[in-house]
Amino acid sequence: MLTSVTLNPHWTGYRCVLCGETFDTGWRGFVCGGCGPEGILDAVYDYDLIASDHARRSPFPASSRADLWRFAPLLPMKPEDPHGCWSVGDTPLHAPQRLREHLELPHLLLKDDTGLPSASLKDRATAMAMADCARLGVEHVAAASTGNAAASLAVLAARAGVRTTIYVPASTPKAKLAQLELHGAEVVRVDGTYDEAFDLSVRETVAHGWYSRNCAYNPLLVEGKKTVALEIAHALEYRAPDAVFVPTGDGCIVSSVAKGFEELVAVGLADSVPAVFGVQAEGAAPLARAWAAAGERAAEMSPAEVLAAVAPVVPHTLADSICVGVPRNRLKAWSRVATTGGGFLSVTDEEIVAAIGLMCRLAGVWAEPSGAAGMAGLVKARGAGLIGPHDRVVVLVTGHGLKDPRAT
Ligand SMILES: Cc1ncc(COP(=O)(O)O)c(C=O)c1O
Ligand SMILES: [Zn+2]
Repeated sequence: MLTSVTLNPHWTGYRCVLCGETFDTGWRGFVCGGCGPEGILDAVYDYDLIASDHARRSPFPASSRADLWRFAPLLPMKPEDPHGCWSVGDTPLHAPQRLREHLELPHLLLKDDTGLPSASLKDRATAMAMADCARLGVEHVAAASTGNAAASLAVLAARAGVRTTIYVPASTPKAKLAQLELHGAEVVRVDGTYDEAFDLSVRETVAHGWYSRNCAYNPLLVEGKKTVALEIAHALEYRAPDAVFVPTGDGCIVSSVAKGFEELVAVGLADSVPAVFGVQAEGAAPLARAWAAAGERAAEMSPAEVLAAVAPVVPHTLADSICVGVPRNRLKAWSRVATTGGGFLSVTDEEIVAAIGLMCRLAGVWAEPSGAAGMAGLVKARGAGLIGPHDRVVVLVTGHGLKDPRAT
């Protein structure tokens, strides 16, 4: 196991998104001690101190490493040595000329995370989990997953020499199961939905004292995911785009993207944040439905109102990675998206399949259905006039098409 990990002195701890209670960096309970599993925590930093450091020199100098640890001043910790289990990131930001012409969006960019080690954005969170395990000396990690988080854990844990137990729902595609088994994970197939697999994994993780790689539960993991926003901003020299489209299931990625852009403003590197849009599949769209129902009030609702408004659904969609009936990070996702001036929308499976085709033919990027939901959302938002022809828009492509070729 690897051990050379140092804590960021500007990381001050956690804040509960429900009650606001704070916890120091030594807190090992994952969620709020008072609120329980609804009390998801947010990692917080001393932004003023980072900003005053930054006034003297850039926090992310050009000479720093290219992987996601380049952003260590805004992350909880940093591994010292480059190693395959945590050296992840630095993915392309394509300027897809033919797709731009087709959509009449001359400033469109695609942030393409399909080339990460396990072929999805989840490797950003797993890299953080591996660093945290090394810091804590933990050697057994568990997760529930619709497939990609599990595959990511299996791949990077194989590199690190960490044991893994992974709970997957019955619907997990074969290619994703193969990835788990080939990389040596212990796989528990739950005869039920992702939501049931999630609950079982949390119970077992607590019972055995394992490390939890459940992003909607362990607050450090979204810190890894937020590096996708930091990379986009860095590539654009900290001039925020106008809008970012993010495939959304549990809501971890979308909230981490918004958090990343917001923190760049907090440390004085950027002047504004993009409108962040979470895109759900129509058959698994509790956030998008509640957002539409809330109308003008959506951005003003209290945490309790949000929790009451986002009603669970029995999810059905071709896009297995976002086939989620109870978005575990709904509160965090809702409040962060609201702050950016974005929102949630839903797209049909047909619109997702059309988006896969568009990106394959006109951009040379093959996304799995969930990975293409952001593009489907952009097409819909453009049609609805939410996005103008001159807007600088970034679409996140979160998972590779080879993970679920049967779907398309
Ligand atoms: C490829 C892909 N895109 C998007 C998502 C949605 O992320 P979240 O559950 O954080 O909303 C997932 C989650 O599994 C995924 O695997
Ligand atoms: Zn709380």
